[in-house]
Amino acid sequence: MMQREFESVTHERERGNMSKILTIGANGQIGRLFCQKAKNAELPIRAMVRNEEQRARFEAQGIEAVVGDLEGDFFHAFDGCDRVVFTAGSGGSTGGDKTILVDLYGAIRSIAECEARGIAHFVMVSALRAEQPLEAVPAMRHYMVAKLLADQRLIESSVLATVLRPGRLTDAPGSGRVRTSAAAGEGFDISRENVADCVLEALRQPPKINRVVDLLDGDTPIAEVFAQG
Ligand SMILES: NC(=O)c1ccc[n+]([C@@H]2O[C@H](COP(=O)([O-])OP(=O)(O)OC[C@H]3O[C@@H](n4cnc5c(N)ncnc54)[C@H](OP(=O)(O)O)[C@@H]3O)[C@@H](O)[C@H]2O)c1
Repeated sequence: MMQREFESVTHERERGNMSKILTIGANGQIGRLFCQKAKNAELPIRAMVRNEEQRARFEAQGIEAVVGDLEGDFFHAFDGCDRVVFTAGSGGSTGGDKTILVDLYGAIRSIAECEARGIAHFVMVSALRAEQPLEAVPAMRHYMVAKLLADQRLIESSVLATVLRPGRLTDAPGSGRVRTSAAAGEGFDISRENVADCVLEALRQPPKINRVVDLLDGDTPIAEVFAQG
């Protein structure tokens, strides 16, 4: 995005006419944590969910929500948005076909829509070691390929990218502290709450560069990791 466009977005925010942050995969475990935190931080979010029942639940919590399916029509969800968080995934209980349709093609279509609309910033929840699919266990290789290709499409796009690559997700409470390199012998876990806090922090300032950040539980305060935008 050009400097002039960023200034215009900033100006809109100063006038209180803030554009929304679209969260794709909002009903997921990270998505729900992120949306609640974003609401508490008074960020202007819109949750994209898959059905009316989910939409009503978000709205009851005071979070604007729209229904959209990455395998179908969802472009209406981007109206009035200037930032996008993608934390959707087809999950381990579906087959490789859904990995292609949701994790890969759903992400690619989302990125293309952002380019068409001049959206400023895209935060992708990817996966640790997505850059080396052949080093994953055989059952995970197609998933890593999907993540890698989606990340590459984003980095090559005209949208500024923050690619977060968390390790193995846990439901432990967030510590507010992470590390960004997977040194041998230190484990590969990261709590979903820490990932949600990283998404929030990544959105706090307009990004200046594309960033790819590995994420594991660690000792560095999350704000420090994202301080450079
Ligand atoms: N598990 C791990 O250890 C691990 C490690 C690194 C990265 N990741 C990645 O981290 C991300 C988030 O993880 P999580 O634990 O929050 O996942 P999750 O709870 O499974 O959430 C995924 C979300 O994606 C939504 N979704 C699935 N298909 C969709 C479609 N066609 N259209 C729109 N939304 C769709 C789901 O909707 P419903 O709620 O309606 O089902 C769900 O809300 C995923 O991309 C995952 O691949 C996972």
